[in-house]
Amino acid sequence: MNILTVSTTPFADQKPGTSGLRKSVPTFQQPHYLENFVQSAFDTFDQCAGQTLVLGGDGRYYNREAIQIILKMAAANGFARVKVGQRGILSTPATSCIIRKYRTLGGIILSASHNPGGPTGDFGIKINTSNGGPAPEKVTEAVYARSKVIDRYLILEAPDLDIDALGETRLGSTVIEVIDSVADYEELMASLFDFERIRTLLTSGNFRMCMDSMHAVTGPYAHALFEGRLGAPPNTVIAGTPLPDFGGGHPDPNLVYAHDLVEILWGADAPDFGAASDGDGDRNMLLGRHFFVTPSDSLAVLAANAKLVPGYSGGLSGIARSMPTSQAPDRVAAKLGIDCYETPTGWKFFGNLLDAGKATLCGEESFGTGSNHIREKDGLWAVLFWLNILAVRGESVEQIVRSHWRSFGRNYYSRHDYEGVESDRAETIIANLRLLVPTLKGKRYGSYEVEYGDDFSYHDPVDGSVASKQGIRIGFTDGSRIIFRLSGTGTHGATVRLYVESFEPDPARHDLDTQQALAPLIAIADEVAHLRAVTGMAQPTVIT
Ligand code: G6P
Ligand code: ZN
Repeated sequence: MNILTVSTTPFADQKPGTSGLRKSVPTFQQPHYLENFVQSAFDTFDQCAGQTLVLGGDGRYYNREAIQIILKMAAANGFARVKVGQRGILSTPATSCIIRKYRTLGGIILSASHNPGGPTGDFGIKINTSNGGPAPEKVTEAVYARSKVIDRYLILEAPDLDIDALGETRLGSTVIEVIDSVADYEELMASLFDFERIRTLLTSGNFRMCMDSMHAVTGPYAHALFEGRLGAPPNTVIAGTPLPDFGGGHPDPNLVYAHDLVEILWGADAPDFGAASDGDGDRNMLLGRHFFVTPSDSLAVLAANAKLVPGYSGGLSGIARSMPTSQAPDRVAAKLGIDCYETPTGWKFFGNLLDAGKATLCGEESFGTGSNHIREKDGLWAVLFWLNILAVRGESVEQIVRSHWRSFGRNYYSRHDYEGVESDRAETIIANLRLLVPTLKGKRYGSYEVEYGDDFSYHDPVDGSVASKQGIRIGFTDGSRIIFRLSGTGTHGATVRLYVESFEPDPARHDLDTQQALAPLIAIADEVAHLRAVTGMAQPTVIT
């Protein structure tokens, strides 16, 4: 088999975003496009020769083709071994787990996360480093820099490989090992949670759950875990077969896109517990019967109940949350006497805190929760954590959350997205706010008084790096906050996100409708940022 050196010219648009390089499928299908980026990554690694690479994806359109190309490039670049998920399937958390377990150089995950797939949908490529986490900015910047000057890539001339059958084959001198997509991950989960107790709950006949895998990557994992290992009945997992176009759906587990699950949990014969995960399996949404658990509350509840779960019974070293996530976890950290870190949006900012042992649990408002067990957020881990708590406490999801609010107070929380905004207009909103916020201190809006306004900067306590301009924060003296930032994950136009939060200590006022409870703050946000006027939209496109 020949190693070909193919001449190429750079593409100008290969700058990775919040979560890898994410573009439309037709963009990735351009000749040399994928190859350029992969070679730029390989060129940036210290050395590929003799190393092991983990490779898989969420099963979306172009996954299989991309895997064949990357296998041949890995072989041409001298990797000793590639561990590739069977049928090309590996969830993001499973990839992180495998990288860490086998101490590999890193991994490549083919996914555009929660973005729709299909011939005109999105595709993506994420690079993870040897700690199992997303490549830090200095790595992605180096890959981008390389992509701007690349003039050749290496690829083995070889027929396509069978990635459906488990086992080892050779590609040139590289061993290609097709691995069970689920086994290593399942073993890790079994080491963290009380599977016996969860099994007892799921087979008791008194408790039903529904897991919506949204025709994305967690299907095989959920079938194996819940219905296989933990004994739930066979119809527990819905949309459990990964499809290249996710069945035409939008694999984003929120109240808008996971509507099938929402209907089931709000139906007459609703199960006790519902959960959904996204395209690549790192996000989660959790529901009780007729009840929604916000991701921010979920992190707070997990932290407050961690001692009930074997993997965390020794206590937490700290909690970390992204800046726009509600401050509910902060109150738990205060009670536990541990630190709570506030990081910019993006899971990669948790990496140093986890590596340094400063945080055990992390979470984001964007339906991401995880811990130091890997270096990615982990959808099914969050579902199992909740099941473990439910099994031990024997209460409903709603009872657990309500009793949490009684102990800690309730943080009403909502996010309003204005999607598909013209980039210039979106930039204008943020630029205007940047000028305005430093002048707001002491200003009154009705009964609210501004305590501080800033453009969030994060000083990483581990490596001292500074990430600035991470979003506009306006904090009020009663602990309420309004936050504005632009999404870093969209592929069409800009998305302006408004995050609103208020704190309610009084249990008598824990039953309000969230949008009503937050209405005065939402009005202040529009007054300050002129969202509706500048976007030309009468209301947000998505409210979660
Ligand atoms: C991805 C990242 C998350 C981040 C989320 C929101 O899922 O992995 O860490 O919170 O995107 O990003 P956005 O920039 O769209 O708000
Ligand atoms: Zn994802």
